[in-house]
Parts: sequence; structure tokens; C-alpha cells
Amino acid sequence: METFKIEPNIEIYPKAVNFLEEYSFTSKDLVFISGSVYRKHFENRFSDAKVIFHSDYGKGEPSNHLVDAILADVCLADYNRVIAIGGGTIIDVAKLLALKEVQPVMDLFDKDLPATKERELILVPTTCGTGSEVTNVSILEIVERKTKLGLAVDPLFADTAVLIPELISDLPFSVFATSSIDAFIHAIESFISPKATPFSMMYSKEAMKMIIKGYKKIVENGKDYFKVLSEDFLIASCYAGIAFGNAGTGPVHAMSYPLSGAYHVAHGEANYVFFTMVFKTYQALKPKGRITELNSLLAEILCCASDEVYSELELLFGKIIEKNSLSFYGVKKQELQDFTANVIEKQTRLMVNSYVTLTYEQILKMFEEVYE
Ligand SMILES: [Fe+2]
Repeated sequence: METFKIEPNIEIYPKAVNFLEEYSFTSKDLVFISGSVYRKHFENRFSDAKVIFHSDYGKGEPSNHLVDAILADVCLADYNRVIAIGGGTIIDVAKLLALKEVQPVMDLFDKDLPATKERELILVPTTCGTGSEVTNVSILEIVERKTKLGLAVDPLFADTAVLIPELISDLPFSVFATSSIDAFIHAIESFISPKATPFSMMYSKEAMKMIIKGYKKIVENGKDYFKVLSEDFLIASCYAGIAFGNAGTGPVHAMSYPLSGAYHVAHGEANYVFFTMVFKTYQALKPKGRITELNSLLAEILCCASDEVYSELELLFGKIIEKNSLSFYGVKKQELQDFTANVIEKQTRLMVNSYVTLTYEQILKMFEEVYE
């Protein structure tokens, strides 16, 4: 049986002020927001709502320690609505704050603690990558286990996803680049996933098309041109989120988690390290299958031959974001076996979405290929 669903309502407002005109806030609201976005667009606009800032609870990617630090400060029982305005970290953590019970966080992720939705949840992304505003997934670094883990359960769906292109135009180019490449990888991994359906594939295709065309325009017109395309990229990221929310992401994400968990590499950047290597491996192991359809689609968008699509993508993406080796991030060669074991043992949720079943040796070989 093939299934497909889009859970939250999706609203689009051109500017933050249009969103504020539509919503009113009370003391029963908990707003979790990035400090810089708050100061630029929302300062003193949330009435009596309790406002908490990401930067007050640690920096960087989301972790179970960040959730514990917030819960030491905030009594969730005081609120009946959670509004998150930020990047992947803020959104993924806010999904947990809408639950009835959150601690111990590790038990929640091990599914020893049931996830029950208790509060209305409104998610406003300020990057164009995670697509997390439309998925039922929360990804956290579990510090004690030195890796990221994902919890994918329906109580994590938002009630409303709010898209505000103005917030994307504020991003530094490097954040735009790493987040939009993450969106592209969501689209391509979900397209080739065994769980893909004609419905999810339609969203994957459109997202890939919009991102490649957008990158080409940025290469032609200069880096700042992404601001002109902010609505396109925000919608593409949301499409990719709908696609992977239904069909999943796969080995590129699985392989990136030990790297970003141990070396704190930004999520999209870590994914990019493995992206073309995984797809070239698919091509070598199983050249006949959905990859043929994917390659023809990419060839059409990129205007190249279908056996050149991965080198063409590297060429185009290389003009947007620099690709680094594992050694660049300080990874030691002897860690590659641990990374591989982590992928096999801890990332089964993602590895089941691989286009081909990958062995320990094949995964280790890919880690070695991107080492230097
Ligand atoms: Fe991702």
C-alpha cells in the first residue's frame, strides 16, 4: 500500500510584519526564536508571550543537553502553544517542547518514553534547507553517544508551517548555501528511496528543478541574487521536506551523522561531503532501476548527458559551496571503521531507504574515498 500525507497547514506571508498582523500572542504562548531574527523583525511584538532565545542555551546543532537546559528554565505546563522561529535546531527542539513529556530525552529517542502531543505547534523556518516545518522528524545530537539520532513519530507534526521569504533574504550566503544543498539532498535521496511514491516523487522532482535552476541563476548573477530567489528556495525546501517526510532520506544523511556529531560540521555541509560519492556508488552497483529515471531527469535540468550528471552537479554546486574531505575536518583515519559501524548499527532508520543494500565494506570504502 502506498501512502502519502501532508500534515500541517501551510501559510505564506511575504514579510514578518504580515505574519504578526495575522497572529495574536498571550501569556500561554512559548516563543523559541533566534536572537538575531528577533531583534531584526520581532522585538517586543509578542505581547505577554514567554520568549526564549537559542543562544541562551548553547550554540550550534541541536542536542539533548540543549533540551535539558531549556527544560531546567521553562515549565511547559504553563503554555498551550509553542511558536518556533529559526533554523533546524530551533524547529527540531520546538517539536519536542510541544509534547506532554520530554525527559529523559534519551528515553524519548529510544522510544521508551511515549511521544504525546500536548500543545499547538507553529513552525516558522528561517533557513531554506531542513524542511523540518512539514515533517514529523526531530534530529538531536545525543551527546553521550557521540552521534545524531532521529525521532520520527506523528505527534511531532506541526499544526501550522509558516513560510516568510523575507527571513531567508537575511541569511549569510554560507548558511543559504549549506541549507539549500541539504534541501537538494532531501529531494534526491527521497526520489530514489524504496518508499518513494508517485506523489512524493513529484515533490522531489520539483524541488530538484527549482534548486538547480536557482543555483544557475545565482552563478550567472552573483551571490546576492539568492535574496531575489528567497521565496523559490523556501518553497523548494518545503517541497523537499514533504517528499522526504513521506519517502525518507538515506545513506548520505546516515553517513553525515557521525561526522557532524563528532566534529560539529554543519548539517548541509556534512551531507555534501558524501552526496556524489553515494550516488556514484549506486550507479556502479545498480545502474538499472530508478536511478535511470533520476539521471534522465537531472540530465534534462542540467542540459548534459545522463552519464555526466554527477560531475555536472559537482561543478555547479562547487560554485555555491566548497566541498571538503574528512581529513580537512580533523577526522582520523582509524575513526572510519567506527563511523561505518555507527552507520550500520545506529542509522538503520535511514539505511533502509538506500537504493541498494550497502555492506559494511562498501560503506567503509565510501568513507575512505572522501577521506583525503
Ligand atoms: Fe538533512
